[in-house]
Amino acid sequence: MEKKWWKESVVYQIYPRSFKDSNGDGIGDINGIIEKLDYLKELGIDVIWMSPMYESPNDDNGYDISDYQKIMDEFGTMEDYERMVAEIHKRGMKIVMDLVVNHTSDEHNWFVESRKSKDNPYRDYYIWRPGKDGKEPSNWQSYFSGSTWEYDKTTDEYYLHLFSKKQPDLNWENPKVRQEVYDMMTWWLEKDIDGFRMDMINVISKNKDFPDITRKNREGNYQWASKHFVNGPKIHEYLQEMKEKVLSNYDIMTVGEMQEIIPEEAVKYVNSEDGTLNMVFHFQHMRIDARNGNKWDLKPFDLIELKEVMTTWQKELEGKGWNSLYLSNHDQARPVSRFGNDKEYRIESAKMLGTWLHMMQGTPYVYQGEELGMTNVKFPSIEDYHCRETLGMYEDATKNLGKDPEEIMPSIYAKSRDNARTPMQWDDSENAGFTEGTPWIMVNPNYKEINAKQAVNDPNSIFNYYRKLIRLRKDNPIIVYGTYDLILKDDEKIYAYTRTLGNEKLLVVANFTSEKPIFKLPEGFPYKSYQLFIANYDVDEGESIESFVLKPYEVRVYKLDI
Ligand code: GLC
Ligand code: CA
Repeated sequence: MEKKWWKESVVYQIYPRSFKDSNGDGIGDINGIIEKLDYLKELGIDVIWMSPMYESPNDDNGYDISDYQKIMDEFGTMEDYERMVAEIHKRGMKIVMDLVVNHTSDEHNWFVESRKSKDNPYRDYYIWRPGKDGKEPSNWQSYFSGSTWEYDKTTDEYYLHLFSKKQPDLNWENPKVRQEVYDMMTWWLEKDIDGFRMDMINVISKNKDFPDITRKNREGNYQWASKHFVNGPKIHEYLQEMKEKVLSNYDIMTVGEMQEIIPEEAVKYVNSEDGTLNMVFHFQHMRIDARNGNKWDLKPFDLIELKEVMTTWQKELEGKGWNSLYLSNHDQARPVSRFGNDKEYRIESAKMLGTWLHMMQGTPYVYQGEELGMTNVKFPSIEDYHCRETLGMYEDATKNLGKDPEEIMPSIYAKSRDNARTPMQWDDSENAGFTEGTPWIMVNPNYKEINAKQAVNDPNSIFNYYRKLIRLRKDNPIIVYGTYDLILKDDEKIYAYTRTLGNEKLLVVANFTSEKPIFKLPEGFPYKSYQLFIANYDVDEGESIESFVLKPYEVRVYKLDI
């Protein structure tokens, strides 16, 4: 298998708004990030992925960009940015920028022009359509609730927005749009960045007919228009062009966030022969606790389903492409609350989840605060929430579907993206040491116990455990390149798998429950000798690996000679 630096790296995602405020305005910023680079270095991070830092009116916290070549005032200046990049590189780390090119902000100059008249030179930068029988051009529903079409009086037409109405979709059919994007990407790469995380990249090519959807979902919405834009008709053509004009000129890392992607489709993007990207972010494991794909419709997750999803990805991409490994990001609830136990086994379960994930084949992504075991939050009122998606759902459910707020709040506590966006918990001082002002979003009240200062100094902390996990990866190529195989596929409590490279094997045994299940090695499992590699409890090293009782959320990894 081809060796690559990005296969051997661990990536850390920073959501700048919530990371560290340096000037007391309550909003994280670039100088705050610079202050904390040594912390990331200490953790062992190789690559930092920055959520958007570009100029933006912040309808969707920077995922609505009004100028791709400017830094958001609240975050700092271009000089600050350049200094940050230099400081990152000085420490031997790399930086990957977020690339949001499915849409811009409606305040981007292209859109300001585009909406002025039908013959404006920028008109075709976006997707405009006349109404149909006095209504929207189609019945598609946006990801953030409501129609995907917004009427614009000036020209008596509608524009398409898959996300909020302040995020009009770019028209990728227009070669000028594509060239603008490629030029902008090259401009950033010439500023010495090391790659892109591509936002919603597999929805940029749409079915130009915009057909109506006939199937309603259970909520009565026409939501499933995605077959008309997910992996759309020209997606591979566009990405091949992007590769040829931009990506192939640099030694960079690329990862595409992809809606509804399945492994067979992903291989087309990431295969090492004629693929266009290095990795994709899929959502399949993020759907296992949702009914009918509706994230707000909660259901307990099923370990067998998790095994199926993860194993399919591991095996389908084996020898062909490369996996990304993540449990959290700025769009997802906190993994320890979601898949672990954030009460009596918070520390154990966070370590278990980290180990289970990092030992698979792929590049692991750590989202800020995950290394501290930060948890979900319950804000007192809907007024305290900021997330565009959460507010859209709340409004739709209360106004259009007549639901009681009390009925909706449990879903918000479990799934709102704001769970991941509470300020990073640096220490036990006021506002968790995030800001000396008033934070833009409420701090999780548990910062007195859960914070970086405590964790860095505590040898048994999740932070120090993650450091060890990351260090092991550097010294053991088997973690990066070993082949994955699932064992005990029907066990409902234990997720166990192996990694194999040459005459070595790793045996990973993870208990996903607060019970004490018994692990039994499959009969005839080959090994000559074994030693403990990493574990989240004290283990008697002489204990036989043939069979043992696991403690709540216990994980053990053994290294075997075979
Ligand atoms: C991606 C981003 C998310 C954003 C959306 C629209 O899913 O991760 O935060 O709201 O795209 O840009
Ligand atoms: Ca600030």
